[in-house]
Amino acid sequence: MPSADPLSSPIECTDDPARVDLAQLLELYQVTWWAQDRTRDQVRRALEHSRPVISAWEGKRMVGFTRVISDLTYRATIWDVIVLPSHQGRGVGKLMMHRVLEHPDLRTVTNFVLLTKDQHAFYERLGFRKERDMAMTFRR
Ligand SMILES: CC(C)(COP(=O)(O)OP(=O)(O)OC[C@H]1O[C@@H](n2cnc3c(N)ncnc32)[C@H](O)[C@@H]1OP(=O)(O)O)[C@@H](O)C(=O)NCCC(=O)NCCS
Repeated sequence: MPSADPLSSPIECTDDPARVDLAQLLELYQVTWWAQDRTRDQVRRALEHSRPVISAWEGKRMVGFTRVISDLTYRATIWDVIVLPSHQGRGVGKLMMHRVLEHPDLRTVTNFVLLTKDQHAFYERLGFRKERDMAMTFRR
């Protein structure tokens, strides 16, 4: 599906996990505050256990990524929503999130959950709501 900006090159969004380029994903992780230390082997293992895995492409350049962990029936958590800084603000994040929320594998899922430190407004535009009183995390 092309991006909304007619002045930009078309952005292709795919759920084919085989398309994900590990080297480019590790580069994309460098722009985050939470995934900079991830190793190639661990990322490969994480991808094997994630579904769907969504990537956005401008030609051969992977410009966006996100992945879901789900029972494919009731619940889904969304992780690592990242757009290359040069491509932010062009609708790529929204495109990938729509791809997740409308994904056929997640058709019956009623609860989508994600964590964010500072991007609440981006997710609220997509219909997400803060539920501060309900969330609990165990970190180690
Ligand atoms: C957050 C992020 C994924 C958004 O992706 P993006 O491609 O830049 O966002 P889009 O262009 O698709 O924006 C979609 C809409 O959200 C709005 N939006 C995007 N980022 C926003 C922000 N930080 N605050 C408020 N609104 C925002 C856009 O204005 C746009 O609004 P519109 O639909 O009314 O036009 C991207 O900025 C990013 O990768 N950031 C660094 C990594 C990160 O923090 N990821 C989130 C982890 S929880």
